Amino acid sequence: MIPHLIEIFLTFVIGSGALFFGQQSAVLPLDTLPLSSDRRASLQETPQPQPPADEPDIEQMNNGRTVYLNNYCGTCHTLAAIDARGVFGPSHDHIATIATERIANPLYRGKAATGEEYIRESILEPGIYIAPGGMLAHQQMPPFSQLSQEDLDSLVYFLMQQK
Ligand code: HEC
Repeated sequence: MIPHLIEIFLTFVIGSGALFFGQQSAVLPLDTLPLSSDRRASLQETPQPQPPADEPDIEQMNNGRTVYLNNYCGTCHTLAAIDARGVFGPSHDHIATIATERIANPLYRGKAATGEEYIRESILEPGIYIAPGGMLAHQQMPPFSQLSQEDLDSLVYFLMQQK
């Protein structure tokens, strides 16, 4: 009789325990789990589709190309990608690569710390640093400070794709 009661009792305890924990884990909200805040954030985050880092933003590229054409940059600069053949300024083929070389040059006197900043600076304040070959130019580059922020950003972006 006694062992039988114990058996019933244990069945009850184990059964209700399983029920209890079973229910608990089914409704346990994420923020009650002992997780680090990073881990919790990563569980709560819905992954956003990200464009691959090395794929250019086509829309901004196209806008930048339009700004380049509308401002006649190609009358002074060569850029094979759009068949521009100006000869008064340095070529814009591979300008993104050249820009980083410019700022590494000990003779560089501008304020840019990156290639992108160098291109931006060259457009806004061309006189701050005369690129090699620029001294001999018969047509000095005027500052294009009238460009809207959006146009300037697209133009710089477009030139940064000329690697
Ligand atoms: C009237 C001719 C002329 C026009 C138009 C012109 N540039 Fe220039 N550009 C030059 C000359 C000359 C230089 C080299 C002297 C210097 O660095 O200022 C130069 C230099 C540059 C440089 C630095 C190149 C290097 O190799 O370091 C960039 C970038 C540049 N121009 C972008 C532009 C853009 C973008 C436009 C159109 C919005 C433009 N330029 C329009 C004449 C011109």
